[in-house]
Amino acid sequence: MKSIRIKDLSFAYQLENPIFTNASLELPFNEITFLKGANGSGKTTLCRILSGLEKRYIGSININNLNFKPFSFTERAKSIIYLKQEPLSNVVAATPEDDLTLWQHGFDKHPNESSSELRKRVMERLRIKDLKDKPFWELSGGQVKRIGLAALLINYDKYWILDEPISGLDNTLIRIFIEILEERKTLGKGCLIISHKEDKILNLIDKSYLIQNEHIEQIARKF
Ligand SMILES: Nc1ncnc2c1ncn2[C@@H]1O[C@H](COP(=O)(O)OP(=O)(O)O)[C@@H](O)[C@H]1O
Ligand SMILES: [Mg+2]
Repeated sequence: MKSIRIKDLSFAYQLENPIFTNASLELPFNEITFLKGANGSGKTTLCRILSGLEKRYIGSININNLNFKPFSFTERAKSIIYLKQEPLSNVVAATPEDDLTLWQHGFDKHPNESSSELRKRVMERLRIKDLKDKPFWELSGGQVKRIGLAALLINYDKYWILDEPISGLDNTLIRIFIEILEERKTLGKGCLIISHKEDKILNLIDKSYLIQNEHIEQIARKF
């Protein structure tokens, strides 16, 4: 199975303040991996490293035994999508419709569905069809968050790295999002998920890890 293998990862923004010291972790692409840790422990930093935004680390990160560090943006984007914690930081255009169109750029066309049909289907599923031509600055935080989830659906087959994907969502949207994760799980598509609402997704989690004292340790499942 395809996976991301992190071995002896060390990273610090400032040398005197290490975030990771020889941390190791494997992320199989067909599993849902849950990551937790206190505020400031390094959860978002790990996401940034895994999405190629931060390269100043020591140690090895391999995807399918290939060294990840020299990957180009295009090579990385073929297999991974990262949904950032702050909703607006995922936005790349003026309106949801344009934003999702940009997310489709460079995609292999699907034989049975045009790009605009795919956008329409995704927006219907996340209940954002009416927002499609509104400027982002008119949308609430929760609405912007839904557009980020729509970008994930456009990138359905990739490995998802999700930094607090359900915070700020109402219960209906949380339910829809959990359905999506369940559906993907049955198709063998996993994700790395960081959330303070662990109870909502407990049944879906294959493995849980805790970032603590610059290390990443597996936590036993609670039954
Ligand atoms: N760009 C940066 N420069 C310096 N320090 C940073 C930077 N980004 C985050 N940090 C620090 O690194 C630590 C880990 O941050 P972060 O990964 O955002 O934690 P978490 O997501 O677990 O709350 C925190 O102490 C934070 O202040
Ligand atoms: Mg964070």
